[in-house]
Formats: sequence, structure tokens, C-alpha cells
Amino acid sequence: MTEPPAPPANTLWGGRFAAGPAGVMEEINASIDFDRRLWRQDIRGSRAHAAMLAKCGILTADDLADIERGLAAIEAEIESGRFAFSRALEDIHLNIEARLTERIGEAGKRLHTARSRNDQVATDFRLWVRDAIDGIDAQLADLMRALATRAARHAADPMPGMTHLQAAQPVTFGHHLLAYVEMLARDRGRLADARRRLNECPLGAAALAGTSFPIDRSMTAAALGFDRPMANSLDAVSDRDFALEFLAAAAISAVHLSRFAEEIVIWCAAPFRFVRLSDAFTTGSSIMPQKRNPDAAELVRAKSGRIAGALVGLLTVMKGLPLAYAKDMQEDKEGVFDAAGAWALALAAMAGMVRDMVPDTARLRAAAGEGHATATDLADWLVRVLRLPFRTAHHVTGRLVARADARGVDLPGLTLDEMRAEEPRITADIFTVLTVDASVASRLSYGGTAPARVAAEAARWQERLGQERLGQERLGQERLGQERLGQDRPGHERPAQERPE
Ligand code: ARG
Repeated sequence: MTEPPAPPANTLWGGRFAAGPAGVMEEINASIDFDRRLWRQDIRGSRAHAAMLAKCGILTADDLADIERGLAAIEAEIESGRFAFSRALEDIHLNIEARLTERIGEAGKRLHTARSRNDQVATDFRLWVRDAIDGIDAQLADLMRALATRAARHAADPMPGMTHLQAAQPVTFGHHLLAYVEMLARDRGRLADARRRLNECPLGAAALAGTSFPIDRSMTAAALGFDRPMANSLDAVSDRDFALEFLAAAAISAVHLSRFAEEIVIWCAAPFRFVRLSDAFTTGSSIMPQKRNPDAAELVRAKSGRIAGALVGLLTVMKGLPLAYAKDMQEDKEGVFDAAGAWALALAAMAGMVRDMVPDTARLRAAAGEGHATATDLADWLVRVLRLPFRTAHHVTGRLVARADARGVDLPGLTLDEMRAEEPRITADIFTVLTVDASVASRLSYGGTAPARVAAEAARWQERLGQERLGQERLGQERLGQERLGQDRPGHERPAQERPE
């Protein structure tokens, strides 16, 4: 029996290999099926690298011109879906490089001078994560704007404030929504921190040790919008903490979104009916005609699971790796791509639901007074007016709650005589503090739920987020102008504006 002919050796690194990889080797080794998403970043990195090599006299001007022409053609091919991605060429870096050489010949083979796939992939991935951060940040801001707008409208609408999912004290719906605005603001803070640390350029670290060529790493760093080149070549090719920080920020934010989603699910449930989602964000049941299921909220809740999973996955991939690069790191991407997509979708769905949902303010108000929710207000009255110690007031109130329960009414349903049976000095004035409106209005302490406070906070957020959007729009205009100017300048790099795919 004759053996089937061995597949040909890889044309890019196959110099010392007699035959190509076994089928399963190709299968486990190739990353092109997922890392093709890095194609824009890869081309960007190659443009910057080539321009730098030419500036430093490592490439000729002719080679650079060929490379730029070739990369532009490849960009157009990929953009229009005409590029043939090949698994045999492993990953996005080799796919593009091989095609470049196919198109322009010798000059294509020179592009990889003073570069390795190790610093190349680290650069591409940083660029991708940075773009993802910018896109997610804009979505977080959008959700915050939606919440702040709603909060302003419902600054004075009471609802049950809960602890242990039990009626605790009335709060306002606006106050509740602004709690999420604060959380999302911290999510953005985490992203901003991660971005600052991420924004150093690995390119030029080469395989792990740097290079013998007289390269200018500051030039490529600047061209790619990084603050500076990374200071240690081993670190540059081997850490993925930037991806971990992104995932950690994603996981925490996803938990915020999940808790909010859970509340929407509860609020939509028949016994509550605090809010109503339109047909746009609900689905029906195939058997129960009355159903209006908050599927979008449920799925936002579920996305937090896979996002947290991506974080744990990458932490586990990285934990045992000696310096510097190991192929394990190829497994860094899918989780990040998936988490970024899930996060973006969850944010879009959440913003949609916040804009869509209609709170039943009458029901919320009625529910706000249930379960003796103003018991603390009664105790506070005893302290303020009768000068009882708070602990004593707490006991008196407890006995009044027991009486009310025995009669099947809420606290304000007790008569003055019944109140006086527990504490003879109580006057009718006490009833003024037992309404939900009086309760929320009294909580004027900084950060409290008083409508005046909530309205001011909502206005502050609206103002801040509005200003920010204006600023970004202006910046966008300026950038557009600069780009138009820059188009004539050779080697000009577009600022990171494109969203990751
Ligand atoms: N596809 C690889 C990755 O994602 C690129 C780097 C490969 N480097 C190497 N020495 N084999 O990590």
C-alpha cells in the first residue's frame, strides 16, 4: 500500500520542516477561524511597522510603497469578502502576510523584519480590546443617559424600597434608577483605568528579546495611538493582563446589568406589575395566551454567566505559563470576543428596555405603603417629638405594628386611641409622617431618596452626560477634519475610531 503524499511544509516557517502538519495538528493549531476578526488591527499594525522600518532605513522607499499598496488591496479584499482565508496558514498574521507576498513579491517577505508574530498578536489584540473599550464605554454612557432621563421624570414617584426583598422604606423610582447610574459610572471608571494601563505598545519586542535592527519603537507606538512602547520585551509578548482587566470590568458590569435585569423580571411579574414592557421587548407563549415574557431581561441576566466564565477561563489559561510567549495564549481571544459581544448586546438591550418600560406609578405608590413601610418614620417621630431614646421608640413601634397586624391594617390604619394605648403622649401629628410622600420627602440627607435630592441628582447626571456627548461630537468633528487633512500625508494613521467587528 502506498502512503498518501505528505502535505507540503508551511511556506512561511517551514524552512526546516520536511512535511506539513497532521490534519488534527492543523485543526488544533489554526486560529484563523476566530482571529480573522483582528484583520483591521493587523493591517494597521503592519502599516505602522513598515513605515517605521522605512524611516529607519531598514526598508527601501520602494519596498514601503509596494507594501502599502499591497496592504490597501488586501484591506479592500477582506472588506468586500473576497479574501480567501486559509487554515493551512494558521492565523490572521500569516494569512495577510502570505497574501501580501503573493501580490507584491519580495517586498512582502521583508515586512516581518524586526517583528515576530508574538509582538504582532499582542499589538493587534491590544488594539482590538482598546476599540472594544471605547465602544462599550459609549454604550455605558448611553444607558446612563436613558436612566437619568427616566429618573428625572420619576424623581417624586414613590415605590417600595426593599431589603431582603421585603418592604423596608419607601424610596422613589428615580432614586432606584440612579443607583444603577452610579454603578455604571464605576464600570466606566474601571474601563478607563484598564485602557490607561493597556495603552502601551508591544510592537518591536519581536519574539521575546527585542531586535538587533535599529528600530524606532516610539514611532510605531505613536502611529498606533499608544502612549509609549512597553519597556520590557518579555513582558510585552507574554502578559495578557489587559485582556483580564477588560474581562474583569466586563464581569462586574455584567453583574450590575444582571441584577437590574432580575429586578425588571420581578417588576414585570403579575403579582408585582410595577412596570410594563411593550411588545418590543417581550415574547408570548405558544400555549398560554396571556403571557408576556421579559425574555430580553432574562437573557441579559444570563449573559453575566458567560462573561464571568470568560474571565475565569483566561485567568486559568494564564496562571501556569512561564515567560515568555506560549501557544496557550492563542486561547485568549475567543472568550474576549464573546464577552465583548455579550456585554455590548446586554447594554443595548438594557438601554432599549429602560426607554421602553412604563412604570405603573399608581401601583408603585400603593405598594410603597404596604408592609408598614413607614414604621421607621413613626419611630423617628417618637424620638424627635417625644424625645424617646431610639431603642425605646423601636419597641413602641414594634408593638404598634403587632396591633396593626392583629387588626389586618397597615400602621396608618390604626386609630389615635390605639396608638395611645402603647404610648399615651402620641398626638394626631404622628399621622403626618406616616404617608409615603412624607416619608420620602423627609429623607433629605446627602444621597437620600427625597424627591428634591433625586431631582437634583438626575439633573446633575443629565447635565454631565449631555456635556460629555457634546464634547465627543465636537471631538469627532475635529478628528474627521484632521483625517481629511491627513489623507495627503504619507504614513498617516487613522485614530482608533472603528468599532471592533
Ligand atoms: N496565532 C497566534 C496567537 O494567537 C499568534 C502568535 C503565534 N506565535 C508563535 N510563536 N507561534 O497567539
